[in-house]
Amino acid sequence: MNFTVLTIFPEMFDAYWAHGILRRALKQGQVTAHTVNIRDYATDRHKMTDDRPYGGGAGMVMKPEPLVAAIEAADEKSSQAVKVLLTPQGRPFDQGLAEELSHEKGLIFVCGRYEGVDERICENHIDLEISIGDYVLTGGEVAAMAVIDAVTRLIPGALGNEDSAGQDSFSRDLLEHGHFTRPPEFNGESVPEVLLSGNHSAIAKWRLEYSLVKTVLKRPDLLRDRSLEQSELDILHKWQKEIESIIHSKS
Ligand code: 6GU
Repeated sequence: MNFTVLTIFPEMFDAYWAHGILRRALKQGQVTAHTVNIRDYATDRHKMTDDRPYGGGAGMVMKPEPLVAAIEAADEKSSQAVKVLLTPQGRPFDQGLAEELSHEKGLIFVCGRYEGVDERICENHIDLEISIGDYVLTGGEVAAMAVIDAVTRLIPGALGNEDSAGQDSFSRDLLEHGHFTRPPEFNGESVPEVLLSGNHSAIAKWRLEYSLVKTVLKRPDLLRDRSLEQSELDILHKWQKEIESIIHSKS
């Protein structure tokens, strides 16, 4: 995977590439990563990358010429890459989209600043617009990092532990079960006994139950859009009966 980030703040990415999963994936050669300073493609004397909006109004708009020149240069270096614009108007980013993107040869991220980018960029020079949520950031850089992070950890070998990506929250459209480590008792609270039992099928069952109930309580919207397997329905019925019997005993 080849990541190219077009930004007026390339330094923001220096620390990002240097730590954690990105550093590891770069070192192991599973990904390559470059930043391009959009300002280097500005042609006027003042190296301007933004200008006032036609029609008036607050804020500035990123000029099309430096952006397009930067996109074209990046496109030449990383042909076949998908050109992504980070914008609050984009397709909502989720695990499914991260999965799709992880199969691409390369991704070119265009990070807008100010009020946005000249609309004429989007039609001819961008393949995909992505938003990381319904709130407004001051620029696409933090969003690009979020996308790069989520995509990189899905690239085979990047995590080290091949298994851990498959178990995550959202990989089965459920929240993940709780995790526990030593000590076995902390502030008077014990680790669930089944986890110490060594009984792998009982542990798997407990984890599924934990995931399902946690999802019902915290993110019921995830379950509404998803079908349920019989084993999952059985768990929910068990809880339903439990809750009903408590209600009955009080009424
Ligand atoms: Cl991708 N960019 C900006 N500027 N704001 C956002 C966003 C992206 N996603 C959510 N808010």
